[in-house]
Formats: sequence, structure tokens, C-alpha cells
Amino acid sequence: MPPHSPATWSAIILAAGEGTRMKSSRPKVLHEIAGRALVSWVVQTALDAGAARCLVVVGHGRDDVERELVSRFGERVELVLQPERRGTGDAVRCAIEAGGSLEGRLLVLYGDCPLIPRQLLRDLVDRSEQAGADLGLVTATLTEPSGYGRMVRNGEGHVQRIVEHRDCSADERAILEVNPGLYAVRADFLRAAIAQLTPVNAQGQLYLTDIVELAAKRGEVLDLEGDMADLTGVNDQRDLAVAASTRRRRMAEELARSGVGVADLATLYVDADCKVEPGAMLGANVHLRGQCVVRAGAHIDVGCVLTNVVVEKDAMVLPYTVAADSTIGEGAQVGPFSHLRPQTELGPRSKVGNFSETKKTTLGAGSKVNHLSYVGDGIIGEGVNIGAGTIFCNYDGEQKHRTVLEDGVFIGSNTQLIAPVTIKKGAYVASGTTVTRDVPEDALAISRSKQENKDGYAARLRARLRRKKKP
Ligand code: UD1
Ligand code: CA
Repeated sequence: MPPHSPATWSAIILAAGEGTRMKSSRPKVLHEIAGRALVSWVVQTALDAGAARCLVVVGHGRDDVERELVSRFGERVELVLQPERRGTGDAVRCAIEAGGSLEGRLLVLYGDCPLIPRQLLRDLVDRSEQAGADLGLVTATLTEPSGYGRMVRNGEGHVQRIVEHRDCSADERAILEVNPGLYAVRADFLRAAIAQLTPVNAQGQLYLTDIVELAAKRGEVLDLEGDMADLTGVNDQRDLAVAASTRRRRMAEELARSGVGVADLATLYVDADCKVEPGAMLGANVHLRGQCVVRAGAHIDVGCVLTNVVVEKDAMVLPYTVAADSTIGEGAQVGPFSHLRPQTELGPRSKVGNFSETKKTTLGAGSKVNHLSYVGDGIIGEGVNIGAGTIFCNYDGEQKHRTVLEDGVFIGSNTQLIAPVTIKKGAYVASGTTVTRDVPEDALAISRSKQENKDGYAARLRARLRRKKKP
């Protein structure tokens, strides 16, 4: 085997803990950063780094954790149950027992460390293999090490053991070098070491970290220096917020480097599963959530919040638009202050403007809903103009009904369309009309009372009202 051919290895990810410090009913590993659960970040990284198998130990909130992992990774993850939370060592024991013929090197990771770079995993495995070490691990130095296990080194500077924060003596507590919690362990050694663990510690648990002392007794432990910014473990809501903002900042920088115009690195929020093409522009305080796609030449201006939205080439999304589960067609324009609700499909060069709301509606090429309208359950053809203050009355209190506007229809301002109703091609609906019946092709629909002008009436009325006011 050539010296640099990558070693075969499998990942064991621990995700059975409750996470009481989160003070949340949700299992800790399901808390999200950038739209992805903590545990899914870790699994994705292990798979990207080249894990042959990926075992995830679940327990607390098992059904929810399993649902998340199966929906995202399918058969690429193997789920293992830890029946009781008896510590990280016990969790690894469960994985080894369930894992059958796990061989080669096993990379053990915690499901609450979401920012680990995949290259660090590869380096740790490769370096441990090359050194022939039973155990390789990563260390990091912190100015505020509270909560982390501390690295205890011997006189020659070799890692000797890890002592948990709660079990530290006063001297050990002063150690600034901590255990971020990544271990690359030879499978046969791990099996033997786990069998020797005892729960003699402050928490009465089986500590995975105790295998380090066992390895050090047999030979040198390999250690790699890591950067704590990549290795933060999430134990409480503050840690979660710190990890989320680190990740947010990195994503913004990555996008800018790839050729996306980023107005403000400090306030761009893009979830992990969104795609933004080079040549798109993203304004300040833009949030792209879920699985958005933004194509080249599209411009999303300040303050927009888009969730699962596809923004096609050269579309303009003007400030403070909120949209979900929708498509904005090529060269279309939306906003300012528009609200696209799910299943809105805007055709090329169409427009939805100021304070308009849409839902479950297709808008054909070049059609416009420019001002203060509600358009729901609509099928709208091409070149349709919908005037200011138009309402699609789609709900009768029991059911939703559909409104169809065929190509070239013109709807005057302040119109109500009482669904189900169809306005045929080229028809015209006069301003202020309440449409209750279908309108034939090229017809005019008008429903309003005749206007009457009474000469001088206003002046007489005013005089009368003033007289009344005097004592
Ligand atoms: C652990 C390490 C500590 C290290 C820190 C890094 C141990 C004993 N301590 O402490 O040295 O500095 O991580 O972040 O390993 N889990 C299970 N089953 C259990 C207990 C925990 O699956 O019975 C899982 C949890 O879901 C979590 C991970 O293991 O994802 C770590 O558990 P946690 O309780 O957060 O350990 P720390 O106290 O942070
Ligand atoms: Ca932790």
C-alpha cells in the first residue's frame, strides 16, 4: 500500500444524550444551526470525509432523532440504541456491540460539535494510521476552558489522560488545553478498552475519555492541535448561538468568495441547504432559509426573508419581501413589502408589488399585481393586469375556490372576484365591480350604482352643520 493511500475507517457518532443544559424539550442534537440539526452537521461531515460506515447512537428523543437522520441520510446511517444514558463510554459500547464486524480505525465523534472541518477528520485518521497509534485525538487550547475535559501530559509532554472538568483537582482545573472530543481509535483496542471502563467518577458514568489513559499505558497517543473555533461543543443556548453565528459568517464569506455579491457579511443569513449562483446579489439582512435556489443575475434586496424559494435568473426581489415555497420567474419583480405564500408560481417578467399577498397561484408571463391586492387560489394567464386593491374572495367559510383570469384580462382597481369564477380572454372588469358570474371573452363586466352629482350641496351642508355647532 502506498504511504498516502487513505485508510479505511468508520464513524461512531454519539447522540443519545438529553442535553438538560439546553433547557428545551427538544433533544439537544436536534437543535439547528443554519437550518440543519447539530447531529446532521456531524454526520454530513463524517460522510463527506469518507467514512465507510456511519453509526449514530440514539436514545433520548430517539424517534425524532431517527426521523431526522433517516429523512436526510437514508441508508447511509446505521442507528444504534443506547437504552440508558450511562455515559459516553457506554454509548460507544452499544455501537461496538451493534456494529458487528467493525474493523480498521473507528472515529468517535460527539453529535453536539457541528463545525468540525472534514479535513481535520481525514488528517486525524491518516496521522494516527501513519504513527501506528492505538489512539489519536485532537486537542485545543482555550483561555476559558470551563466545562471541557482537560489534557494531562507527562514530563515528556505526551498526553497521559483526560480528566473531566467535574473531576479536576485545583491544579488540573488550571490546565488550558482541552479535549474537543474527536478520537481515531483502532477497533480492536477500542473493544478491549471499553470493556475495562468503570463508573468511578463524579457523575457515576462510563467515560469514553478514560480510554486515553489505557492507550497511553500501551504506547504513545497521537495528538493533533485543532482550532477551537471549529470544535465548539454545544451544551447550552449560548453555545448554540455562538456556533450559529460562526457558521453564518463563514457561509457569507464562502458565498462572497464564490462570486456572489454580498452587501454585508455581518448580516447575511443563508441556511446550509440553499444554493446561490455566482453573479447573484444579496442585500443586507437577507435570510435564505430551507432550500432556496438563487440564480445568476438575481438580486435580493435588503430585509427579504425567503424560505424554500426558487429565484430565477435576473429576478428582482425588492426590500422586505417575505416568501415561502414559491418560484419567482426569470426577470420577474417582487416587492417592496410583498408576501408570497406557498405555491405561488410567478412567470417570467411578471410583477407582484407593494403590499400584495399571493397564495397557491400561478401568474403568467408579464402579468402584474402591483398594489395592495390579495390573490389566492388563482390561475392567471399572460399579460393580465390586476389593479390596486383587488381581492380574490376565495374562501366561503367552508371551502377554497378557484379564480381563473385568462390571457390579456384587465381587472380595474378595487374589484372583488367571488370564486369560483372565470374571466375569459381579453375581458375587462370595471373598477369597483363585485364579480359573481363568469365574464365572457372580450366582454366588460361592471357592477356599481349610477353616480349622481348634486350641485352646491356640499356648501349648503357645511353651512347647516356650522349653524348647529353654535350655542
Ligand atoms: C464530553 C467529554 C469532554 C469533552 C467534551 C467536548 C466525556 C466523558 N467527556 O463532555 O471530555 O471536553 O465532551 O465537547 O466524554 N452521549 C450519549 N450517551 C450518553 C452520554 C452522552 O450518546 O450516555 C452523547 C451526547 O448526546 C453528546 C455527546 O455524547 O452528543 C457528549 O456528551 P456531553 O454530555 O455533551 O459531554 P460533555 O460533558 O460535553
Ligand atoms: Ca458536550
